[in-house]
Amino acid sequence: MPELPDYALTAREHWTRSNAEYTSLTARERRSQDEIHWGVWKTPESEIRVLPDLQGLDVIELGCGTAYFGAWLKKHGARRVVGVDVTPAQLDTARAMNEELGLGLEFVEANAEDVPLPDASFDVAFSEYGASIWCDPFRWIPEAARLLVPGGELIFMRNTDLEMVCSADEERITERLVLPLKGMHRLNWFSEGESTEFHINTSDMFQLLRRTGFDVLDYRQLFAREDSVDHPHYHYVPAEWAKLWPSEEIWRARKRQEA
Ligand SMILES: C[S@@+](CC[C@H](N)C(=O)[O-])C[C@H]1O[C@@H](n2cnc3c(N)ncnc32)[C@H](O)[C@@H]1O
Repeated sequence: MPELPDYALTAREHWTRSNAEYTSLTARERRSQDEIHWGVWKTPESEIRVLPDLQGLDVIELGCGTAYFGAWLKKHGARRVVGVDVTPAQLDTARAMNEELGLGLEFVEANAEDVPLPDASFDVAFSEYGASIWCDPFRWIPEAARLLVPGGELIFMRNTDLEMVCSADEERITERLVLPLKGMHRLNWFSEGESTEFHINTSDMFQLLRRTGFDVLDYRQLFAREDSVDHPHYHYVPAEWAKLWPSEEIWRARKRQEA
C-alpha cells in the first residue's frame, strides 16, 4: 500500500479501538435489519427516497467500515459491492458478517483517496461517514470521480455545517457558534483520543463537486425524529439537539457524460 497520510494513520488507530468497543455490535444490529436506515438518527430510506434504483449496479463504498450499509445496498439490488477501508479490524468484521450472510461483498484494504482499482469501474460511489468525513475532500472526491463511469453517481452522508460550527473539542456539541465556517477544512480533535476529520462548507462542497465534473442532483438535511432517543454509542450529538438543528446531510451528484 502506498504511504498513508498522517490522518489516515490516526483514523486507523481510532477505528481499531472503536471496532473493539462497539462497531462490531452495531454492525450485527444493523445487518439483522432489511430496511435501509441512514445515519445516527436511523432515518428510513423508505421515507426520504434519496437512493437511485440500485438494480444491477456496481457500487464502491469508500470507508466502508463494517459494511453494514454496503450489505444493505447489495440486498437492495446492487450487482457488485466493493468496500474500501484503511482499518484491518473493521474489514475483519465486515468479512465475518459477509460470510455469515453470504452476500458476496468484496473488500480492499486501502486509503479511499488512492484506491488500487481501474478508472470508470463503478456506477455508484458511496460513503456514509467514511471517506465523506475522514478523507480530504480535495482528494477523495476526485478519486470517486475517477472510479465512476460517465453518468455514474456519487452519494454520501456527512455532518452539516451547523453541527461543525457548534463543535468545540469536547465531549458534547454546544448550542453556540464556536468554530468559523469560513475556510473550514481539516479539523484535529484531541478530547477522545487524537483524530482528524475534514469538513468544507456547503458552498465550497457544491463548487468542488461542480469543478470535479459532477452535477448535484439532491441534497438533504436530516433532523432527529420526534421519537428519537440518544444514540447508544455515539454521545456527541444528543437527540434533543438534532431535533432543533439538522446534524446530518446527504448529497447525491452525477458525473457528467463529458467529465
Ligand atoms: C463510521 S465508519 C463507516 C461506517 C459505514 N457506513 C458502515 O457501514 O460500517 C468510518 C470508516 O472510515 C474508515 N476510514 C477512515 N479513514 C479512511 C481512509 N483514509 N481510507 C479508507 N477508509 C477510511 C475507518 O477505518 C472506518 O472504518
